[in-house]
Amino acid sequence: MMAEETIDYVCPIKFEYRFDRNAAKHSQALTIRRALANAYAEKHQSKNKGAFEIESFELYPVPRAGNSGSEVFYLDIYHQGQQQPNRFVAKFQDVKSTKKEYVSSLRAKRAQMCSEVEYEVDEVNDVGIIICELARVAHHCEFRVFFLDLKNSDEQCASALSSILSNVGNQPNDQGERKNFVSDYEWYVDRKNQPLLRLDAIVRSGDDCQGLSLLAQGVKSHYDRMVADFDHQVLPYLVHGDLHARNLMVNSKNANQTELIDFGWVHDGHPAKDFVLMEATIKYQLLRELLRDIRPDRAENQHLSVEYFESFERFMCRRGMWLPEFEEYKQSENIEQYLREDQVQAVRRVYVCVAQIRQQARTALQRYISLAGTDKYSIEQHYFASLFLVVLGLSAMPEMDMIWTLIALNKIGDRIWNSPN
Ligand SMILES: Nc1ncnc2c1ncn2[C@@H]1O[C@H](COP(=O)(O)OP(=O)(O)O)[C@@H](O)[C@H]1O
Ligand SMILES: [Mg+2]
Repeated sequence: MMAEETIDYVCPIKFEYRFDRNAAKHSQALTIRRALANAYAEKHQSKNKGAFEIESFELYPVPRAGNSGSEVFYLDIYHQGQQQPNRFVAKFQDVKSTKKEYVSSLRAKRAQMCSEVEYEVDEVNDVGIIICELARVAHHCEFRVFFLDLKNSDEQCASALSSILSNVGNQPNDQGERKNFVSDYEWYVDRKNQPLLRLDAIVRSGDDCQGLSLLAQGVKSHYDRMVADFDHQVLPYLVHGDLHARNLMVNSKNANQTELIDFGWVHDGHPAKDFVLMEATIKYQLLRELLRDIRPDRAENQHLSVEYFESFERFMCRRGMWLPEFEEYKQSENIEQYLREDQVQAVRRVYVCVAQIRQQARTALQRYISLAGTDKYSIEQHYFASLFLVVLGLSAMPEMDMIWTLIALNKIGDRIWNSPN
């Protein structure tokens, strides 16, 4: 065990967190993280010479949904003579991810997407800390929380998206590296949880699971066709790169005030990325959570029939970037034949949000195509090809509904080659 008492800290650093059940491991993890926080405190102190002396640091965990591998804490810095602490967010992760996130955050900062970010690393123990300011939007909560709260209207959810997406996909970078379309999405497809290899595993299902095998084969052949035929050199744009429902903060009292956080994936790439990732999160992750939350009593089936989901996805593909009003969709597809009233309510929220995303993506992609000086592929093709690769990348994550993503990937794939079914 490391002797913590011998380290001379700039200020007391208090963690409200148990890193491990095992006392020795906990103490070791704590020492490593305290030392990192201390290194930051030293810098902070010397940078602000003459200002208030730091009195103490308090770190307490951000409640998390899912497991991203990083440990995120709110950090309160108390200064002598000040009543209220200054609030920051401190994130611990391995050294490689810390450095990568720091570099992309600097990029985001230059583009005025975020404010100050600092970092420290402990190479020996392979732990780093990133410290950034708390989101500035008042009463902020994650978009995910806002979306799942039925007290907020569907239109407010769409407004939150509209407010952030109007600033997305509009910063071209002529100097950026030009990549082929599929390589530009490599980061998304080549994931730790190996979505392509999982498809292979599903293709090799036995006789009893032929339906699943066919779905997986369909996705594979769309992917292979994209690799071989989708011949587009991407004109790079600045993208957030990880714009999902937990990286968008919303003012819970005013949905028009939003802010991005988590800049570890900021890079130059195809401008459709940020739109399609948000669409994918809403359709294959939040919808499932919403259906469950609407029926907390478990008295009714929380799941949509696959038949309905197929028809939903088919419609979304057929109507492409021009989704009509929800009422028109509801009538024309006669969705009440498949859904209970509470399910219609959940689907409406998802539909209204996706319609908003596509409307704004349309404008962004129109600009993109004219600036890139190519009309080889339509706006729809750019959008659906991006959606395909991003959904494929997400499809092996446990948060995603596997059946839905497999069905969707088949339909989206068909849509890219212009044969909506
Ligand atoms: N600057 C911030 N302001 C407010 N909350 C934040 C901020 N940064 C992170 N959080 C909270 O912590 C969560 C996880 O932080 P994030 O940087 O997204 O980590 P991860 O890389 O693990 O996704 C966010 O979803 C959000 O709830
Ligand atoms: Mg995040």
